Amino acid sequence: MKKILAIESSCDETACAVLDEDLNILSSVVTSQIDVHARFGGVIPEVASRMHVEQISSIVSEGVKRSGINVEDVDAIAYTIGPGLIGSLHVGAAAAKALAFFYEKPLIGVHHLKGHIFINELIEPLEYPVLALVVSGGHSELVYIENDDDFKIIGTTLDDAVGEAYDKVARIIHEAYPGGPVIDRLARLGKPHYELPLPKVEGLDFSFSGLKNAALQLSKRLEKNGEELVKEDLAYAFQETALKHLLKKTQLALEEYPAKTVLLAGGVAANSRLRELMSENIHGPKLILPPLKYCTDNATMIACAAFHYLKHGQFVTLDTSSMPSMSIEENGTML
Ligand code: KG4
Ligand code: ZN
Repeated sequence: MKKILAIESSCDETACAVLDEDLNILSSVVTSQIDVHARFGGVIPEVASRMHVEQISSIVSEGVKRSGINVEDVDAIAYTIGPGLIGSLHVGAAAAKALAFFYEKPLIGVHHLKGHIFINELIEPLEYPVLALVVSGGHSELVYIENDDDFKIIGTTLDDAVGEAYDKVARIIHEAYPGGPVIDRLARLGKPHYELPLPKVEGLDFSFSGLKNAALQLSKRLEKNGEELVKEDLAYAFQETALKHLLKKTQLALEEYPAKTVLLAGGVAANSRLRELMSENIHGPKLILPPLKYCTDNATMIACAAFHYLKHGQFVTLDTSSMPSMSIEENGTML
C-alpha cells in the first residue's frame, strides 16, 4: 500500500499528514495562526512565515509520530508548491525538500486548490467530468475537470474572492478575522431587512467588491443617520446575495458544461447556507460536499491530491521554486 507524507503551509495554517493510497488518514496535524492574525484583522504575510518557521519542525515530527510509520516507509513527500504567500510556501517547501533529500524520496509539488478539490474523494470517488466551485480566501473559481489531470478555469472573480469579501464584511460589523464562520452564524439569526444589489457580471465570472462596498455604504449611511446597524440582518443580506451569485453562476456553468459531479472546494465550502443552497438546487449531477473538518487548509487534502501526481509520475526537483500565483491550469510540476 503506497503512502504519502504531505505538508501544507501556503497561508496561515501549518500542517502535516500521512495517508495511504486508499485515503486512510494515518495522521493529520494542523496548527492555525488565526488567533495571532485576528489581532491585525487579517493575515500579515511576514508574521505568517515567521510562525511557520517556528512550527514546522514540531508539526512534521508530530505528523510522523502519530502516523505510526517511519519516513523511510513513505513513497513520496508532497508539499504545497502554490498558490499562496511566498514566504509561507517556502517554509513548507524547505521542510519537504529536506525530508526528500535525506530519505531519498520523490518530491511532489501540489497545487493548493487541487488539494481543496481532491479532499472530496474522502466522501466518494469523483465521476468525471467534474464541475468544481472553488471558494476560498484567495480564490473564487469555477473549474471544469475532464479528468484528474485536466483542469480548465471557466469562471473567475474579477475582483475580490468570496472568502475575502466575507472577511471584509465581518470587519465592517466589527467582528474578528476570519469573518466567514462569524457571518455564517450571525446570518442564521438575521432577517430580510436590508437589500444589497446582486452583482451583475457577464458569463461565468464573479464579482464581490461591489457587494462589499454596498455593505460598507449601508453601514456608513445608518451611522450618519444615527440609526442602529443590525449586524445579524447585514450578515443575512450579504450572505444571501453573495451565495445567490455563486449558485446562479454554477447553474449557468452546468448548462454549458454538463458535468457528472458538482463539488465544493475551499474554506467557504464550510458555509452552512452554501451547502444548504447547493443541496436544494443542484439536481442531475451528483453533488459532493467536502467534509467540514477538511474545508479549511490542511495537509490531508495535499496528500489526497498528491496520489494523483504520483500516479501520473509528476514530480519536482530540489531546485524547483515555489509559485505564489500559480494557476490550476498550469502543469508546472512535471519533470
Ligand atoms: O481555503 P482557506 O482555508 O484558505 C485559503 O486557501 O484561502 O479559506 C479561508 C477562507 C476565509 O476567508 C474564511 O473566512 C472562509 O474561508 N470561511 C468561511 C467559512 N469558514 C471559513 N466563509 C464562509 N462561511 C464559513 N463557514
Ligand atoms: Zn485554502
